[in-house]
Amino acid sequence: MTGNLGPLDQRSHELVLGVPGSGKTHHVKARLARARRVVFFDPTGHDYSAEGEQVTAGDLLDLELLRGAVCRLVVVPEADDVAEEFQATVAACRAAADFGGLVLAADEVGDYAPRCGEALTRLHRNGHHDGVASVLISQCAVDIPKTCRRTATRVTSLLQTASADLDALETEYGPEFRERVARWRPGDPPAVWTLPTFNHSR
Ligand SMILES: Nc1ncnc2c1ncn2[C@@H]1O[C@H](COP(=O)(O)OP(=O)(O)OP(=O)(O)O)[C@@H](O)[C@H]1O
Ligand SMILES: [Mg+2]
Repeated sequence: MTGNLGPLDQRSHELVLGVPGSGKTHHVKARLARARRVVFFDPTGHDYSAEGEQVTAGDLLDLELLRGAVCRLVVVPEADDVAEEFQATVAACRAAADFGGLVLAADEVGDYAPRCGEALTRLHRNGHHDGVASVLISQCAVDIPKTCRRTATRVTSLLQTASADLDALETEYGPEFRERVARWRPGDPPAVWTLPTFNHSR
């Protein structure tokens, strides 16, 4: 089943993890291919160019851009301050709550997480009230703020090799998930953990 948010719903706070080149971006594009209302935050500037109209965080000050039954935008930050532009993007998505909810998919979170801890944590704590479901994408589990790891509804992981990342996964999602992530090899399906009280069918 897919709605405005594709396979997600307004309570969804997903994480996608894996070492460089393991397939995180590929997975997210496939998962959100049929979402009608989604904003991709793309620090690389080229990974999501086929997914929607390219805009800047400044453009989103015009909230009208976030209105519509179909709204697929790709925010490409200007290089000097990715953190500030991420925070502006989150603020715009929250301010557009009345337009029917959307998914914010944020790639390369490790690049700006150190300066955006509060924005990321608020997304997880309040996103379902603000109509913002989220997908946070990172090479390293430990670059995702701890509160976000703790409140994730679904975690998809390709390979993680560093013991700090594997330890963090074991702490939140158990030893079996850690083992599947440590054993992952190219061509394998991703390891997926879902919050036990959440909708398993998605
Ligand atoms: N399941 C898959 N099937 C086919 N091709 C895939 C699959 N997963 C990844 N690829 C291809 O492998 C390459 C690397 O994938 P991708 O860019 O998604 O990795 P990534 O984890 O996002 O890397 P980075 O950390 O560098 O951003 C891409 O060319 C992508 O199209
Ligand atoms: Mg990527």
